[in-house]
Amino acid sequence: MVETSLPAQRHFGETTRADAWWFQPLAVFLGFAAFIVYSTWSAFHPLYNGACAYWYHGNGADYLSPFFSPQLFYPATCPGPAIHAWFGAQPAWWPSWLLFSPAFLVLWAPAGFRFTCYYYRGAYYKAFWADPAACAVGEPRKGYLGEKSFPLILQNVHRYFTYIAIVFIFILGYDAWESLWFATPSGAHLGIGIGTIVLTINVLLLAGYTFGCHSLRHLFGGFLDEPSKRPLCAKSYACVSCLNRRHMLWAWLSLFWVGFTDIYVRLCAAGLWHDFRIIF
Ligand code: FES
Repeated sequence: MVETSLPAQRHFGETTRADAWWFQPLAVFLGFAAFIVYSTWSAFHPLYNGACAYWYHGNGADYLSPFFSPQLFYPATCPGPAIHAWFGAQPAWWPSWLLFSPAFLVLWAPAGFRFTCYYYRGAYYKAFWADPAACAVGEPRKGYLGEKSFPLILQNVHRYFTYIAIVFIFILGYDAWESLWFATPSGAHLGIGIGTIVLTINVLLLAGYTFGCHSLRHLFGGFLDEPSKRPLCAKSYACVSCLNRRHMLWAWLSLFWVGFTDIYVRLCAAGLWHDFRIIF
């Protein structure tokens, strides 16, 4: 009988890896932190110089920032985007001492969807609390609880956020459709501005990310022992799997672009950027 012993546990950051293993977690940390800071700032700034900052309607355009869509209520001090409000003006029950922003009522859904995403979990566990900092690199703690106890067990709500995220895709698709129509004295005319392209790419990238979700793979066929015996399930499963193979890429492209879309609409609304019209 040969006696062996387990290797000693590494100290935090200790590794035999010779590559730049720290680069990816650092990039994830910077990218994700920048997005969180910017999106929080944007949610808290629905107005610019007293006017609506998240809706551009100059030159007949109709561009709504995705951070504020669906707009359930519009700010009472800024009736401009009333045409996009589902339920009218800011509700009377909203505390007067608390800033009202339509983003507060909707951002929890896409934020919850991203934070519980299987890809992002693996990425930000490494980047934000070094658990572990990277594969084969020493951790700062000895115990391992996994996601079986509070609070990380809450990550299991991801599939429910997925269902909500799918609804958002249709809503943002409608916003992209609206951006194709430009108001004129003789009625709305079909056209394409740079903003139309920006909003359309935004919903396409978000759809690529959402429809490649691991939870959807299960829902569309992964739960079956033999998906090939159910042609529709097999086809749907193949489509979701195809998007899922590049899930990380879709995740980052859509994250970057949704932030850029908000910036684009804000710059146009503030008069700091001219929305060039390509057609019409
Ligand atoms: S696993 Fe990433 S969106 Fe569901």
